[in-house]
Amino acid sequence: MSGSIGVFDSGVGGLSVLHHIRQTLPNERLIYVADSAHVPYGDKTPEYITQRSLTLTRFLIEHGADAIVIACNTATAAAAATLRSQFNIPIIGMEPAVKPAVAATQSGVVGVLATIGTLESARFAALLEKYAGKVEIVTQGCPGLVEQVEQGELDSAKTRELIKRYTEPLLARGADTLILGCTHYPFLVPLISEVVGANITLVDTGEAVARHLKQRLETEVLHHRSGLSPTKQAEFFTSGNAIEASRIMSLLWNEAVEVRLLPSEFA
Ligand code: DGL
Repeated sequence: MSGSIGVFDSGVGGLSVLHHIRQTLPNERLIYVADSAHVPYGDKTPEYITQRSLTLTRFLIEHGADAIVIACNTATAAAAATLRSQFNIPIIGMEPAVKPAVAATQSGVVGVLATIGTLESARFAALLEKYAGKVEIVTQGCPGLVEQVEQGELDSAKTRELIKRYTEPLLARGADTLILGCTHYPFLVPLISEVVGANITLVDTGEAVARHLKQRLETEVLHHRSGLSPTKQAEFFTSGNAIEASRIMSLLWNEAVEVRLLPSEFA
């Protein structure tokens, strides 16, 4: 079966990107893999993340994907170049939205919330070099926040406390714009807005990724397809606990989904 868009993340965060993909490309068949047995990627080595990304991409292609979205800033920084060198299909990555944030700031200070892996990557350094200009960029790693989203704790006291701890130093430096540089964080937007106040602008990359994917499909992929109508609109897999994943992913996807276990050779 061919003609699907394969999407993966370290866990459930990439569903924030999948929402935009579904909106932008309502007729595409989607396959999503949450690598929950290996989450978080943020504190793993680039080599480890690259191995996982290669394995998940192989699974998605065997399962019919003819385009891949790395719905994870950390995995893009570590593995996008390797994936592109190994697979001859569109590989769409994502990175913190520095360019739009620099355009949006009035105070001239932008805060970046992301994983340590993303913030320490050469790719992120290159992004700042290219787009920061005269704007001051203040970064903040957020250990623990991904785990809160993985557990569906979108508005618990502990999640609020972590958000407060990580945003306060950025606001104290004068940031009026915060980049959500990890795909898990858009699920926390209501809570983040409550903590930082409505006058702080939050930006993420999900919509831009979906638009870019649509362009790539139109120019490189769609004319290869057979035109068969999709049999299944979205399939979900996890390398972790399928029952727990079904519960959390149904919550984040806004409809009941059955999450299947990734075959053991890919888990
Ligand atoms: N959702 C991921 C990102 O966009 C990674 C989170 C993690 O596993 O640390 O960076």
